[in-house]
Amino acid sequence: MIDIERIRSDCPACQQLIHFNNAGCSLSPTPVNEAILAHLKLEQQLGGYEAAELASNSIDNFYGAFGKLLNCSPGEIAYVENATRAWDMALHSIRFASGDQILTGEMEYASNYLELLHLARQKNVEIKLVPTDASGCIDLDQLENTISARTRLIALTHIASQRGDIQPAVEVGQIARTNKVVFLLDACQSAGQLPLDVSELGCDMLCGTGRKYLRGPRGTGFLYINKDRLEELEPVFIDLHSAQWTDAGNYSLRADARRFENWEQFIAGKIGLGVAVNYALEIELPFIRSRIEELVTHFRNRASAVQGIRILEQSSAPSGIITFIKQGASANVLQKKFRSNKMNISVSKQANAQLDLGRNKLGDINRVSLHYYNTAQEIDQFIELLGTL
Ligand SMILES: Cc1ncc(COP(=O)(O)O)c(C=O)c1O
Repeated sequence: MIDIERIRSDCPACQQLIHFNNAGCSLSPTPVNEAILAHLKLEQQLGGYEAAELASNSIDNFYGAFGKLLNCSPGEIAYVENATRAWDMALHSIRFASGDQILTGEMEYASNYLELLHLARQKNVEIKLVPTDASGCIDLDQLENTISARTRLIALTHIASQRGDIQPAVEVGQIARTNKVVFLLDACQSAGQLPLDVSELGCDMLCGTGRKYLRGPRGTGFLYINKDRLEELEPVFIDLHSAQWTDAGNYSLRADARRFENWEQFIAGKIGLGVAVNYALEIELPFIRSRIEELVTHFRNRASAVQGIRILEQSSAPSGIITFIKQGASANVLQKKFRSNKMNISVSKQANAQLDLGRNKLGDINRVSLHYYNTAQEIDQFIELLGTL
C-alpha cells in the first residue's frame, strides 16, 4: 500500500525540487542510501573482502529480492554493472550461425540497436526491423509474418527510453514461444514501474538497471536467464567466478545464471539494489502501477489544455514516461528553464532514437517521467510554468 507522506519523507530531495526525470535516474529512498553507505563504511573499517564475508546475507538478499520481483528462482538472476552490459551478455550468449535473423522493433534502445548493427557487421547475421503500428507499438501481425526458420532471436524493449508506450511484451512472448525463438526483453524502464512476471511475459532473458524505476544506485543492473535455456546460452567472457578451473586444460561453467557475472562487483551497490527491490515489493507493484497511471492521467489532462503542446504517446497503454513537443520551443532550452526552477525533466535526443524520432523527423523532444512519489500538486506547478514558457 502506498503511504505517500511516509514515502516522501524517505526522500529528502522531494522537499527541495520536483523530480520528473525518473526514467533517467530516480531519487533513492533513504533505506537504500543508508545500506550503501553502511557497507562502504564497513569496507573502510574491515577491508573489502572481510566486509563482504560479514554482509553475505545482505548480498544474497539481492537474488531473493529479484526472484520475487520477477517471479523466478534466485538462481536465474545475475548481477551485472548496468543494463547495457547485461543485454550484451545475453545477446552474445546465443551461438548465431551464418544467415540467422534477429527481429527487433523501432523502439529498441539505442545501445541495443547499435550492438545489433555491430554484430551484423562482424557476422553474417541479419537484423530485421518490425514496424510499429499507428499507436507506437510493435505490429504483432508483422512480427508473426516476419518470423522464419532462420529467426533465432526476438529482442524487444518493453518501454522505450524516448517514448512512454508500453510494448505488448506478453503477446510478443507468446509469438516467440509458439515459434520456439529466444526472446530477450529489455525491462530497463518497466522494472519497478510495472508488475513483471517472467513466466507470463514468456521471455528467456530479461535485463534491467538499478537506478531508474527501481530507485537503486547508479552503476548496477541485473539479468534474468530462464533456467531451461541456460545450457544453450554460453557467456562470451568467463572468469574464476562464472567458471571453475577444473584442471590445467579444463573448466566447467557455473550451473546458474551467475555464469554471466564478473568476479569483481560493486558490492555496496548490490546490497543497495536488493534493498531498493524490497522497498518496491513492500509498496507492491500493482499499487505503484496504478499510482503512476493516476499521475499520468492528471498530467495528460492538464498538459492538453496548454496551448502548443503535443503529447507523443498515442497507445492505450501509456507508462510514467510522457514525451512532448512545445511548438516554437527548443527541447534543450525548455529543460534548462525548468532546471533553473528546480524541476528536473529530460530531453530525448533524435540522435539516440534514429528509428523513431529520426525517421519521423521529430528532432529532440522533452521527456517527463513520473514516479509514485510525485504528486498532483507537483504536476500542477509544472504545468503552470509550462504555460508561461
Ligand atoms: C530502455 C533502456 N534500455 C537500456 C538502457 C541502458 O541502461 P544502462 O544505462 O543501465 O546500461 C536504458 C537507459 O536509459 C533504457 O532506457
